[in-house]
Amino acid sequence: MDLFSSLPLGDFTLTNRIAMAPMTRSRADYQGVQSELAIEYYGSRADAGLLITEGVAPSAMGLGYARTPALYNDEQIASWKNVTDAVHAKGGRIFMQIMHVGRIAHSANRTIADAPVAPSAIQAAGQMWTDSQGMQPNDMPRALAVEEIPGVITEYAQATKNALAAGFDGVELHAASGYLPNQFLSEGANQRTDQYGGSIENRIRFVVETLQAMIAAAGSAGKVGMKVSPGMKFNGIDDADPIPTFVALAKAISPMGLAYLHVMRTGIGSETALREAYQGNLLVGGGYGKAEANQVLASGAADGIVFGSSYLANPDLVTRFAKDAPLNAPDPSTYYSPGPHGYLDYPTLG
Ligand SMILES: Cc1cc2nc3c(=O)[nH]c(=O)nc-3n(C[C@H](O)[C@H](O)[C@H](O)COP(=O)(O)O)c2cc1C
Repeated sequence: MDLFSSLPLGDFTLTNRIAMAPMTRSRADYQGVQSELAIEYYGSRADAGLLITEGVAPSAMGLGYARTPALYNDEQIASWKNVTDAVHAKGGRIFMQIMHVGRIAHSANRTIADAPVAPSAIQAAGQMWTDSQGMQPNDMPRALAVEEIPGVITEYAQATKNALAAGFDGVELHAASGYLPNQFLSEGANQRTDQYGGSIENRIRFVVETLQAMIAAAGSAGKVGMKVSPGMKFNGIDDADPIPTFVALAKAISPMGLAYLHVMRTGIGSETALREAYQGNLLVGGGYGKAEANQVLASGAADGIVFGSSYLANPDLVTRFAKDAPLNAPDPSTYYSPGPHGYLDYPTLG
């Protein structure tokens, strides 16, 4: 088993075990419409076994960063259809990552005046970029009323339907990196006293119900995956002992038959714990190169490997791995800058 072995994954069989990580690139417009530049960006990487898009907001409330895409209106759907068409024309597979920022938002980056929503009214530590005001602290969120939670879950279900309408093969729930689902999972960010907070069983409830709604909307669990990052200290998440929560979540969702569980390695060994707790495809990412990826696949510790910054900088990563060719180094100064520079101009071999 190695990166070039095929992989049955949900409703699909991937041609290799190389996945492109979800990466926010901030090339969309201020209304969440994806840039035409994204057609070439994703299209040129279509030989991955699986492409996972940057985080895409399911609603105006779910947007918090500058120039990030969304998928709740026809114009946004049409902008993504061009991308999925380009990927499919080359025989690729592409899942859309659904990302609701929750409390990680600034008003200057939003299309609505309403305060961001979160499990609890606790402001996240940290700052974010705004084009009009430079770096700004995250806004103070308001706590979702319990009666509002089904409506938020419905946004994820609708975004799933919209993603399929836009031609995506499936969707990934972004439950990592401190965004809304991760806020519900976290003891620090979630101090609710109702059925969505407190015990582990209660803190995982939002994610479990959201996945159920996404599966129903997709008509198949084999079109739905999820990303988690247990122990990632980012966006104000800093829980003392996160693994038991994520193990309980993995056990709860195991019978659903998802396409995959995607774990970002954070250095606390959660990949091993989740491999044991979860029956199904496990994709792992976070600092992997070709050699380590092949070792992990050969050992059976994971079923596929997710590459982030190396894929960002190497549109022909699959070819470079096949030929053992050297890789371009990524340039962080253009990760989130508008326009084609650092987006479409990384050289390919030859
Ligand atoms: C520019 C950039 C943007 C990212 N945006 C997202 C995102 O939108 N959603 C997400 O789940 N992870 C995001 N990540 C994290 C990556 O998916 C991945 O987990 C991380 O880069 C570690 O993998 P690597 O060491 O192979 O880069 C981003 C990473 C980078 C470099």
